[in-house]
Amino acid sequence: MKSLQDLVVEHPHLVVAHRGASGTAPENTLTAIGLALEVGALMLEIDVQITTDDQIVVFHDETLERTTDGHGEICSFSYEELKKLDAGAWFAYRFRGEKIPLLDDVFQLIRGKACINVEIKPPAAGEDWRKRIKLITEATTSAAMTPFTLFSSFHHDSLRHLNSLEQGFHTAALLPPEDARLPSLVLQDTGCQAFVCSLEQLTPELGADIAAHGIFAGVYTINTLQDAELAMQRHARGLVTDFPERILDYLHALKQ
Ligand code: G3P
Ligand code: MG
Repeated sequence: MKSLQDLVVEHPHLVVAHRGASGTAPENTLTAIGLALEVGALMLEIDVQITTDDQIVVFHDETLERTTDGHGEICSFSYEELKKLDAGAWFAYRFRGEKIPLLDDVFQLIRGKACINVEIKPPAAGEDWRKRIKLITEATTSAAMTPFTLFSSFHHDSLRHLNSLEQGFHTAALLPPEDARLPSLVLQDTGCQAFVCSLEQLTPELGADIAAHGIFAGVYTINTLQDAELAMQRHARGLVTDFPERILDYLHALKQ
């Protein structure tokens, strides 16, 4: 499997399966990730959170209601408790029984096949976010996945901390909703190598800054061919999509 560095050098545009193939299977589950691999995604994005017993689970929301049959804040549950929840039936009945995976389950599934963007969700109020980073980086290092992993976050203190560590982790700064700074300034401020924003945030001015500074920029969520075209016009190279097959087909057709 190619390292993240090789992927970026070899692919002018990289399709990133957002929460797995989350348009066709329940987000952040092993089925959604397996599906993204099946259609040929070389990069996937997942979100991670920490449980009360310091396990790293793959889950987007702060609360359980939208994507499981549980109730309450995810950070107040242990992994043993979360394991009992159904994380698939909300999407479609045929996915019932799907579980909330551990980061390590995802590493095992993608190993040798794809790279991964681990989005570190902002810490809960009062949470020790340095400990959160320690747990996540230790899990990545002990799975020998560092060369294949890109860490991203809206929480820029976490990114600055990650960038101060000597292991040389790959990092991308997510642009917070109310942040109007140019990508070059955000990278200067955080020390990250890559920048990620929404398509709505990617104005022509941001695109020009990305081009002028040769920044690797990712954009979400690109689910139509029109949006893919616009993102590329504005110099985005990472196309984060819920439908990796669709965007991969589009890029393939462009090359014909
Ligand atoms: O990395 C892009 C995207 O995942 C950031 O937002 O809310 O989908 O995790 P969200
Ligand atoms: Mg995310």
